[in-house]
Amino acid sequence: MNSYPFADRAAEDERLVAQGALFDPLTVRLLTRAGLAPGMRVLDLGSGAGNVARLAAELVGPDGAVVGIEQDPAAVELARRRTGATNIEFRVGDAQTLEGVEGDFDAVIGRLFLMYLPDPVAALSRAATRVRPGGLICIHETDLDYVPAFPYTPLWSEAHGWFLEALEKAGIERRMGPSLFAAFRAAGLPAPRLLVETFAEGGPEAPAWGWANVIAAAVPLMERTGVAMYAEVDPPTLADRLLAETLACDGCVIGPPMTGAWVTVPEE
Ligand SMILES: C[S@@+](CC[C@H](N)C(=O)[O-])C[C@H]1O[C@@H](n2cnc3c(N)ncnc32)[C@H](O)[C@@H]1O
Repeated sequence: MNSYPFADRAAEDERLVAQGALFDPLTVRLLTRAGLAPGMRVLDLGSGAGNVARLAAELVGPDGAVVGIEQDPAAVELARRRTGATNIEFRVGDAQTLEGVEGDFDAVIGRLFLMYLPDPVAALSRAATRVRPGGLICIHETDLDYVPAFPYTPLWSEAHGWFLEALEKAGIERRMGPSLFAAFRAAGLPAPRLLVETFAEGGPEAPAWGWANVIAAAVPLMERTGVAMYAEVDPPTLADRLLAETLACDGCVIGPPMTGAWVTVPEE
């Protein structure tokens, strides 16, 4: 399995739950548009703290079922604890090999996990083997190379720059969202439909905290890769400082463009 860069797992799962408030509405719209429907049996790859699996479980309803695959046992434990629904199961497993995961799912879905895999095309093509003919593959990934705040003030530029540089050095795909079209094709799948969406807000509710959280989570990676040190980033005050810069120029915070890509797997 790959080494996921956000090393403090308890903090990471807390971050994933919080981040869900921003991304979950976009994912529901994507899954609905892609055709996730009542009664389907769904596989969620890289399920983390369980947000996407829970959204899928609501869409497929009591006659459907969702299996979440996640490499980290602590995340799987947390996802199980957070879930009251009886139609979701979380398992420890590798989304790259899918060993022990038997097909025939009506849909394979996943959010923000392909970007961390060394070979996303191989993972997509393996995922396709677990979908029944006529079933759905629907993936939600992002593009981190965009302007996260307008104006792009000095602190935003510095903190965003540290984050991007650390991901680059760790070999993480910063532009997995817009790469999805080519990745689906390279995996032998039909050309996917695409949907790009994000969120944005100005004023005191602007979600600078979302960026501060992910930048703080990447500090150990930044230190390991020589990009920045804890004291420079100063995670405890980062959200307030980012927000203050944005408020000072009556600006806004813009979420990362989330690309959804989906296909129906051809009938044999
Ligand atoms: C950014 S989180 C996203 C979690 C969830 N999909 C969401 O959107 O809330 C990525 C998750 O993928 C998991 N992951 C990374 N590589 C994996 C692999 N090879 N197999 C299974 N899970 C993996 C990580 O442990 C992490 O929990």
